[in-house]
Amino acid sequence: MNKINLTTKIGTLVFKNPVTVASGTFGSKGEYAHYFPLERLGAVVTKTVTRAPRRGNQMPRIWETPSGMLNSIGLQNKGIDDFIEHKIPYFQNIKTHLIVNIAGESVDDFVYLAKRLDSVKGVSALELNISCPNVKKGLEFCARPDLAFEVVREVKQATKLPIFTKLSPEARDFLGVTEAVIKAGTNGVSLINTIRGMAVDIEKRTPQLANIFGGLSGPAIRPIALRYVYEVKQAFDIPVIAMGGISTAQDALEFLITGADLVAVGTATFVNPTAPIEVVSGIEAYLKRKKHTSVSDIRGTLKVNQEQKSNGATAG
Ligand code: FUM
Repeated sequence: MNKINLTTKIGTLVFKNPVTVASGTFGSKGEYAHYFPLERLGAVVTKTVTRAPRRGNQMPRIWETPSGMLNSIGLQNKGIDDFIEHKIPYFQNIKTHLIVNIAGESVDDFVYLAKRLDSVKGVSALELNISCPNVKKGLEFCARPDLAFEVVREVKQATKLPIFTKLSPEARDFLGVTEAVIKAGTNGVSLINTIRGMAVDIEKRTPQLANIFGGLSGPAIRPIALRYVYEVKQAFDIPVIAMGGISTAQDALEFLITGADLVAVGTATFVNPTAPIEVVSGIEAYLKRKKHTSVSDIRGTLKVNQEQKSNGATAG
């Protein structure tokens, strides 16, 4: 039996396997490196970096829910200067792709961050976080196709790095926003960011989170994420990094078969820090069992007949 080929190509980027991690769940440096060598991943995606340091939201800002978690961290990070000086050098010796997730309150912030990272050694791509539900203006750019278009177009002009734009089902016109970022030149889309929810302390009759709302992640949102990946892949020819409750190889395979190019393990790593590499070996085992030699043999092979398609509702 030939060796299984997990290589995945997106534009000029060649990933050794299709498994990465979701921004915000894997730290910004080597936090998980004592669990497994990070080079076993196809890519590492960092926690969001902003122009200036951010303290994040008031605590409590994490709440466990059935099959998931609410977070309202509020983009806590030490800012781009610290990131370039202290975090990126760590990755320069790790043989995998580094995708840096960036967020801003204005187009100018996004452009500034993109320019700062453009020629930094070790950065493979940017992920534009235009869908954070936990900060003022966090969802602004993905709320309207014209705003989403503008930010992506400006960042595209500011950097040679490939960009992935992270979108949220909170966008009312989801497919319109997706189309806009594709027209503006995004190299791929990351689907999906968390969905706002809340929980209540019935003794105190107060919200469990200081910020009232938090973004719901984990297996609870996986079917929703899968639906959006399906709809986007049906509508557009655009690479997709899928995330939303992916915890096991079975989950990852559902997304790959639906057409995802990369899959990102997120909340699962808080429970099982080795989940991402278990997903890599589980995909390999599945391909062997099914007598395939390459992950591309199964990508986008979901069988849906014409009748099912015409009965299915569309997003938007
Ligand atoms: O609040 C946070 O730091 C989360 C960010 C996000 O979901 O984009």
